[in-house]
Amino acid sequence: MAATNCSALLLFGATGDLSRRMLLPSLFALHEDDLIAPDLRIVGTARSEMDDAGFRAFTQSALDEFLPADRKDPARLASFLERLQYQPLDASDIDGFAALAAKLGDTSCGLAIFLSTAPALFEATIKGLRHAGLAHPGVRIGLEKPLGNNLASSARINDAVAAGFSEKQIFRIDHYLGKETVQNLMALRFGNVLFEPLWNAAHIDHVQITVSETVGLEGRKGFYDDTGALRDMVQNHMLQLLAMTAMEPPGHYDATSIRDEKVKLLRALRPVKPEEMVRGQYRAGAVNGKTVTGYLDDLDQPSETETFVAIKAHVDNWRWQGVPFYLRHGKRLAERRSEIVVHFKDVPHNIFGKSAGRPRANQLVIRLQPEEYVRLQVMAKEPGLDRGGVVLREVNLDLSLTTAFAKARRRIAYERLLLDLIEGEQTLFVRRDEVEAQWTWIDAIREIWASGDEDVKGYAAGGWGPNAAIALTERDGRSWND
Ligand code: BG6
Repeated sequence: MAATNCSALLLFGATGDLSRRMLLPSLFALHEDDLIAPDLRIVGTARSEMDDAGFRAFTQSALDEFLPADRKDPARLASFLERLQYQPLDASDIDGFAALAAKLGDTSCGLAIFLSTAPALFEATIKGLRHAGLAHPGVRIGLEKPLGNNLASSARINDAVAAGFSEKQIFRIDHYLGKETVQNLMALRFGNVLFEPLWNAAHIDHVQITVSETVGLEGRKGFYDDTGALRDMVQNHMLQLLAMTAMEPPGHYDATSIRDEKVKLLRALRPVKPEEMVRGQYRAGAVNGKTVTGYLDDLDQPSETETFVAIKAHVDNWRWQGVPFYLRHGKRLAERRSEIVVHFKDVPHNIFGKSAGRPRANQLVIRLQPEEYVRLQVMAKEPGLDRGGVVLREVNLDLSLTTAFAKARRRIAYERLLLDLIEGEQTLFVRRDEVEAQWTWIDAIREIWASGDEDVKGYAAGGWGPNAAIALTERDGRSWND
């Protein structure tokens, strides 16, 4: 076992949904590919009473459900299950942590903790860990969102964690940063000379970031209704996408350099004006040809919570002055799609004359999911003898990452993030100052919502959100990339 590896991984919330769907399958993938030390023990903990055998059976059924059939090698599965242990714990009972520490045994060579529990339990959990001697310098702690629901509550959580751990030990998770295509944004921007000289207000008209989903509440009624689209997706994932798209080039590919640039960018976000945002809530409609009910029926009670948000954001620095960043996210929209679209400016002068039509401005489409591609839309001449003059048409310069890297297995975000946590690599985790800059911007939006009398606008499920969201771009003479 490498000296830098931890001797154990401790999973809080081990019986939860994230654990079943993502964490346990990801840990299995790391085991399957011999990426974690053979003697790394994985200890699960949660409130449910069960023993090691019970947790192994729980894990077995999660893997049965969430692993593709061709990855269920019985010998591999059996050796993975052998790593697993379980200790029931009520995190609000500080005395229970002694039994947890006893179960973990010697952690002096390192312990990675993954906290995927209700934020209300964070403080008690940190206290318990400290009480039981599980907050020593060899411990790294990964924190799953939500980390608070505004700046003040996130600061309280961060203070509680900081009482036990230094920033170097804290790994705040934003699973979007674990996605291959999101990391690829940096490769595209900084591994090529082509884009960077144009990546500014002189050449870019505007940028659109869309994260649309077809799913609705998915059994998370209480959480979602307390949270809403702005805090569930924009505060974290979308602002990280914005930061990676717009930040200055870092000096190095390392945790400090990259996070320094992101935080500078996040702090340069201009407070949003009331007329620059739209919030919506889905009504009944049809998604992918299937009729679905509206949010209020799904929830079964009245609510003003937004399931859609569109924002016209601005970055107040030299590079981006005058370039709007239109952000849009919603549940129950027309399709599942995450993409960044960079709209360049028009050519300054059309040499082709009227016959060609006005050359359309170039667009760079970075599709993050479900497909993975980078597409540059350029103008080309229609083949022909041009008796009536040259005719231009838009064509795609296409880079399909799926095809270009057909042999490389796509890893889910948590595989990457768990391995980085175990090995102590912080680049893809969010630093405290970033989270606080994100909340500062989001809180200001929520203050406007709280004081204004603009209603949440209804939109039919299966569309692209309320009409007002379309107007947000149209009144600037632009349109969403639908
Ligand atoms: C989570 C949100 O953080 O991200 C969910 O809480 C959302 O509401 C999910 O569905 C989307 O993640 P992905 O990876 O499917 O785009």
